[in-house]
Amino acid sequence: MPHRKLGTIEVSPIGMGCMGLSHGYGQIPEENYSIEAIRQAYDFGCTFFDTAEVYSPNLEGLGHNELIVGKALQEVRHKVVLATKLHIGTAEPAQDGSLYASVKRHLLASMQRLKTDYVDLYYLHRINPAIPVEEVAEAMGRLLGEGLIRGWGLSQVTTDTIDRAHKVTALSAVQNIYSLVERGVEEDVIPYCLQHHIGLVPFSPIASGLLSGKLTVETKFEDYDDVRKFVPQLKAENLQANLPIVEVLGEFALRKGATCAQISLAWMLKKYPNVVPIPGSKNKERILENLGAWNVELSDEEFARLEEALGRCKIHGQRGYDEAEGRSFLQHKS
Ligand SMILES: NC(=O)c1ccc[n+]([C@@H]2O[C@H](COP(=O)([O-])OP(=O)(O)OC[C@H]3O[C@@H](n4cnc5c(N)ncnc54)[C@H](OP(=O)(O)O)[C@@H]3O)[C@@H](O)[C@H]2O)c1
Repeated sequence: MPHRKLGTIEVSPIGMGCMGLSHGYGQIPEENYSIEAIRQAYDFGCTFFDTAEVYSPNLEGLGHNELIVGKALQEVRHKVVLATKLHIGTAEPAQDGSLYASVKRHLLASMQRLKTDYVDLYYLHRINPAIPVEEVAEAMGRLLGEGLIRGWGLSQVTTDTIDRAHKVTALSAVQNIYSLVERGVEEDVIPYCLQHHIGLVPFSPIASGLLSGKLTVETKFEDYDDVRKFVPQLKAENLQANLPIVEVLGEFALRKGATCAQISLAWMLKKYPNVVPIPGSKNKERILENLGAWNVELSDEEFARLEEALGRCKIHGQRGYDEAEGRSFLQHKS
């Protein structure tokens, strides 16, 4: 299996998004099940695992997900790439003495939960407008120098922000939303990243389940901590209107002996060499199904036909939910 690079960090072509094991998609599995699911992904060949300090049930408290990832991968720590993320509150640098001290405090706490003495990829989860990204880049540069992290990244950012940060301390990866129904990054973020040898790690690459073809207007989302209730793309009228996209995926899936989710992942792997998606699932079989997309190879001709067919479909609704409906998922520590 060919590997991909996030900056200089080598990873499997598809990673495992671990968030749903703690937050965001309804009831979470038993801890033992989650640990087995992560180990099974590793045994399958996955070497890239994505978590964040805030991935806890209902975003209450810190570290639920990091603890699970740490327990699952402790014995193979040096064979995997662990990515985690921090949020910085406006008052923290003053309380800690400096921004660097705040970032390091968050990092050390994550490291403890992850049972490791370094983090491979450390992201700023969201830009805090009160804290210049250049200062965060400087702090990350110091942590790189100390060997506490191997690379750093930003999440849900514009090209301008990436450029300002990258000029201070070279970025390894940018983690933005990206799927074939959420293509904003194709405009200038991906071209910038390609030019500067930065990896692009798409989150929600299956559009929160839409592109699996398994969601229907009858699907009931859960009351407990389920972001899908707020995703406009998953409202009944948009699910229905987006059916032509799922049908295109279904046709290709049938021809390739694959699934819709696999085709949507294979599509982005084919499109860009610096893209490493991190699909998320709470289900062991689906986790392997998604990773198996790295074996689904689209020829140039198939890819062109797929792009052309998708280009004829209108996309209804977006992934981030409307501000008017309450807290924005994308702004709220997702
Ligand atoms: N940086 C950020 O701000 C940010 C934001 C969101 C997420 N993330 C990261 O990105 C990862 C992935 O994002 P995501 O989980 O939001 O979106 P996703 O991978 O696009 O979708 C996850 C949803 O799709 C379903 N699903 C996944 N594979 C499936 C398959 N093969 N067949 C049927 N259904 C399938 C899952 O259901 P089941 O669980 O029932 O299989 C779950 O409801 C997260 O785990 C997290 O690590 C980062």
